[in-house]
Amino acid sequence: MIDINKVRFDTPGCQDKIFLNSAGSSLVPNIVSDTMYQYLEQERMIGGYQTALIQQDKIDEFYIQSSLLLNCEPKNIAFSYNATDAYAKALSSINFRSGDVILTSDDDYISNYIAFFSLKKRFGIEIVRIKNLDNGDIDLIDAEEKMVTCKPILVSITHVPTNSGKIQPVEKIGELCATYDIWYIVDACQSVGQIIVDVKKIKCDFLSATGRKFLRGPRGTGLLYISDKALNAGLEPLMIDMRGAKWNSEQSYSPIDTARRFELWEVSYSNLMGLTEAIKYANQIGLGNIQSANLKLINLLKSTLIQNIDIHLTEEGSRSASIVTFSSRSKPLEYFVQKLNDANVSYGVGYREFALIDFNKKDVDWVIRLSPHYFNTEQEIMNTVEVLAPV
Ligand SMILES: Cc1ncc(COP(=O)(O)O)c(C=O)c1O
Repeated sequence: MIDINKVRFDTPGCQDKIFLNSAGSSLVPNIVSDTMYQYLEQERMIGGYQTALIQQDKIDEFYIQSSLLLNCEPKNIAFSYNATDAYAKALSSINFRSGDVILTSDDDYISNYIAFFSLKKRFGIEIVRIKNLDNGDIDLIDAEEKMVTCKPILVSITHVPTNSGKIQPVEKIGELCATYDIWYIVDACQSVGQIIVDVKKIKCDFLSATGRKFLRGPRGTGLLYISDKALNAGLEPLMIDMRGAKWNSEQSYSPIDTARRFELWEVSYSNLMGLTEAIKYANQIGLGNIQSANLKLINLLKSTLIQNIDIHLTEEGSRSASIVTFSSRSKPLEYFVQKLNDANVSYGVGYREFALIDFNKKDVDWVIRLSPHYFNTEQEIMNTVEVLAPV
């Protein structure tokens, strides 16, 4: 059980508004911002290098807390500046050759697709998409067939898309990747911090996440998990630097053994400390507890919103995380924006170009995205539904 009074007390940002945008950038608990201020204060007085030396144990705590969060070892974790940075470094470690196939889904993140197109332009790779079933779930039979026929070098799946709340079956796809020995990267930007994410069960080689969303960390932070298999195979980011490698002769370098191979030397340690506290806070509450609390909130929100004749939910798939999106054929976006702004509700908006494949299929130009988190109350959900009710 979550002590809702405590988490709300720890979160001053949730007290004067209804904050339903954790899928965008959530509210940090006090401990996150306090830790960052204290770290910066120390840097102000003694300089960045001296501070990092003194705080080394606390810096190491980042790797410990992240490994507890994802069920791996600290040596498999790298700090990153956001999810895209983590994802791009992982992608850059694959030795793509012309004609290589990346197998992905219709719901992968916009920037991942742009990266694939960039790889296509430079290296001539091919992008193949797994079909969805009619209910929006990934078609696992099609996935396996394409693994056999297209022989992809890499499978990329976004665990929970940015444009809807469906949870993709990353564990089942992981089984298939293991069977066919294919590199596997999971974009867990929207799932880490709101549901249990277990890299041993997913069997991925890489998993990327951001700090500022459901993890409730600061902006400009993220993390990357790298499997032992990928590390032992020598995968390394294309632009590795002196953090990830030793310069061992005038003509050569060797990568270090751990996942820190995927980091760059310069890091904002106040940000890293903030993210550490955010992860510790989530670990202490327990991801199972967070997941159950969020499921209650999202089920309440969906089951009541569905009765609103002005809107239609743009959700599909058999499993859902704490994100709901809706659009309208009778009212413009501005109508809902006005209502939510007037009632001091925080929300997100997604446009067609953010999720072109999905929104083309759904034929919507925009959606409003509401993403409750465990610090929200059922009363806030009901108040929001009331705000959106037809007049
Ligand atoms: C599914 C998904 N992947 C990746 C990202 C990119 O995250 P970041 O902005 O931290 O790079 C987002 C951001 O919304 C996202 O929703």
